[in-house]
Amino acid sequence: MSDTILSVQGLVRDFGGFRAVNNVDLAVERGTIHAVIGPNGAGKSTLFKLITGSLRPTKGRIVLDGHSVGGRRPHVIATRGLVQVFQLSSICARLTVAESVALGIIAHRHRTLDVFSSYHRRALVQATVVLEQVGLASQATTIAGTLSHGDQRALEIAMALAISPRVLLLDEPTAGMSPAETAVIAQLVASEARSRGITVLLSEHDMDVVFGISDHVTVLHQGQVIAEGTPEAVRAHPEVMSIYLGRSADRTEEIA
Ligand SMILES: Nc1ncnc2c1ncn2[C@@H]1O[C@H](COP(=O)(O)OP(=O)(O)OP(=O)(O)O)[C@@H](O)[C@H]1O
Ligand SMILES: [Mg+2]
Repeated sequence: MSDTILSVQGLVRDFGGFRAVNNVDLAVERGTIHAVIGPNGAGKSTLFKLITGSLRPTKGRIVLDGHSVGGRRPHVIATRGLVQVFQLSSICARLTVAESVALGIIAHRHRTLDVFSSYHRRALVQATVVLEQVGLASQATTIAGTLSHGDQRALEIAMALAISPRVLLLDEPTAGMSPAETAVIAQLVASEARSRGITVLLSEHDMDVVFGISDHVTVLHQGQVIAEGTPEAVRAHPEVMSIYLGRSADRTEEIA
């Protein structure tokens, strides 16, 4: 039986006369990993911004766990359990790894950061547990901004996991990573999401990641959904192949 946690219906976003997201429908099933792929400029990030509330839809509906959230402010949508991975660089690169995770927990609960409060100590304990789970425990006292690029992304994901989102949005989680770092992050996202029952919506250019961890794939092209289904079905879809063949003769896994 279908159990949709996030649905998007007839979603449109115009920038002036340009339609970046064009009548998009999307249904994300609870507990699944759902990828949105498409060439550069397809509208993936715009779609994600509409879902998180950082952009307002021109038209259409967004329903999160039974509640209409289209056009709501990001913090309202976050309190309903939808969280986008933090940009570490903009928040707390000077804090330690453990403090960063604790700050994320506290900020999500709208508490002020008081280092002497028992609340802060509890958040630090929770942070330590999450860091062990994601393999960053040995870096807990390292200044976040000095971590390797791959570990910084792992920390960003840890910060998001620490607040136990119902739906986690990841817009290109492996951007700028080496293939080895990419494999680690993909496995981290998949295993943590599955063990915690977190639904994941991700956009990703690395097709190995997409086909390796996703249950369902939606393909956007010029703002519209042109295909969706299992990774196998999408990979074999004629329109998807023809779009990607423009960039690579026979290796669809290298392009998105
Ligand atoms: N704020 C904006 N103002 C005007 N045009 C925008 C704005 N944001 C995005 N666009 C345009 O909307 C289209 C979709 O952009 P978007 O960033 O959503 O694509 P994307 O699929 O995320 O691409 P990429 O794979 O490169 O990240 C692009 O043509 C982009 O130039
Ligand atoms: Mg993008």
